[in-house]
Amino acid sequence: MRICVVGLGHVGLSNAVLLARHNDVVAVDSDPDRVASIVRRESPLGDRELASFLASENLRLSATTDLAKAVPGARYVLIATPTDYDPATDCFDTSSVEQVIAEAAALNPEAVIVIRSTIPVGFVENVRAQLNTRQVLFSPEFLRESHALHDTLNPSRIVVGEISDRARAFAELLRQGAHSSDIPVLLTDPREAEAIKLFSNAFLAMRVAFFNELDSFALARGINARPVIEGLGHDPRIGNHYNNPSFGYGGYCLPKDTRQLLASYSGVPQNIIRAIVDANRTRTDFLADRIFALMPRTVGIHRLEMKAGSDSFRHSPILDVMARLRDRGIELLVHEPLLSGDRIKGARLIGNLAVFKQSSDVIIANRVSDDLADVAGKVFSRDLFGLD
Ligand SMILES: NC(=O)c1ccc[n+]([C@@H]2O[C@H](COP(=O)([O-])OP(=O)(O)OC[C@H]3O[C@@H](n4cnc5c(N)ncnc54)[C@H](O)[C@@H]3O)[C@@H](O)[C@H]2O)c1
Repeated sequence: MRICVVGLGHVGLSNAVLLARHNDVVAVDSDPDRVASIVRRESPLGDRELASFLASENLRLSATTDLAKAVPGARYVLIATPTDYDPATDCFDTSSVEQVIAEAAALNPEAVIVIRSTIPVGFVENVRAQLNTRQVLFSPEFLRESHALHDTLNPSRIVVGEISDRARAFAELLRQGAHSSDIPVLLTDPREAEAIKLFSNAFLAMRVAFFNELDSFALARGINARPVIEGLGHDPRIGNHYNNPSFGYGGYCLPKDTRQLLASYSGVPQNIIRAIVDANRTRTDFLADRIFALMPRTVGIHRLEMKAGSDSFRHSPILDVMARLRDRGIELLVHEPLLSGDRIKGARLIGNLAVFKQSSDVIIANRVSDDLADVAGKVFSRDLFGLD
C-alpha cells in the first residue's frame, strides 16, 4: 500500500519511518535540505533512535518536495506540518494543514487524509464543511521530542477521531508498525480526539508548573524541595515521575497547546487553564529575581536545549530567564555546542567550556550535567533529580 506523509519534522518523519516498515511511503517536505538528508538516509533531527533506524532498517521510504507527485495513488495522506500559536488571532495557525488538505483532496479525492498535527477543537468538522469532503480524519500524536521514534514505535495509546471501519483500519496500520500490538486504541468523535490532545498537553504542563511552584515555595521559605517532592510521590495517586523542577515547561507543544486550549474555553468558566498559561511567566520572574539577587556581573547559560538530549531550542524556558537578566543589564555568555557563531539573543557564544566556566560569575543550567561538577559552587539550577 502507498502512503504519503507530508511535513517531515519530529512527528512526520517518525510516522513515515514507522509506516515504511510495512508499506511504500512517499515522504514530502517543502524544505529541500530536509528531503535530501532523508534520501541520504541521514536524520535531520537530533533523535538517536531515528538516526540509527533510518541508516540501518530496510525501509520502503522515498522523499520528495513535490506533493503533486506523491499524493496520486496513495491510500492515506498523513499531515504533520506545523500549527504554531498565533498571538494575533489567539489561535493555532493551521494554514499549512489546510493548504495540504485542499491540495491532497484535489489530487486524490479517494485518499483518506489523516491529520497528525495538533489542531483546535472543531477543526475537522469545519474543514470537512469548507472543502465539502468526508475524507479528513484526526489522529493525535503523543510523542516526546528527542524520543520521537521511540514513542512512535511504543505509543501509549492510539486515538482516531472517528468511529468507523476506516478509522479502525488506520489505527491497525499504526499498530502494525509498532513494537508491540498491546496498545490501547480509542475511536472517538472528531472533537473528542481534538480535545484529548489539548487536554493531555495541558495536564502535562500543569504537572510541571505544579512542581515548579512547589519548588518556588521551598526556595522562598528555605526548605529543601527534594524530600518534599519525594514525600508526595510515594502516594500512588501522585507518583514519582515527571516531577523534577525546571525553569518552566517548554518545547514546541506544551506552551502553544495550553494557550490554544485556553482560547478554546472562550465563554466556558475556568480557572486552572488560565493559571497553567500564567504559571511559566511567574516562575521565570521568580527565578530571574533569585539569580539577580546573587549580584553577578556575568551570567553563563549552560545549554539552551529545552530538555536534556534534545537538539531543539524551541520555546526553551531558559531563553525567557535569559531575557529577564539581559533586561536588567547583566552580561550574558552562552555555552551551546550545537550552535556556531559569535552571538545569540544578545549573549556572547563561548565554544570553549573552560573559558565559559572561568568567565561566568554564576552559571545557570536548566539541566545539570557532569561537565559542570568542577564549578558546582557557581551553578544555579533547579534540577533536583537529574531527570527530564
Ligand atoms: N514535536 C512534538 O513533540 C509533537 C508531538 C505531538 C504533536 N506535534 C504536532 O505535530 C505538528 C508538527 O510538529 P513537529 O514538531 O513535527 O514540527 P516540525 O517543525 O519539527 O516539522 C514540520 C515540518 O513540516 C514542514 N512543512 C511546513 N509546511 C509545509 C508544507 N506546506 N508542505 C510540506 N512540508 C511543510 C517543515 O519544513 C518541517 O520539516 C504540530 O502541529 C505539533 O503541534 C508535535
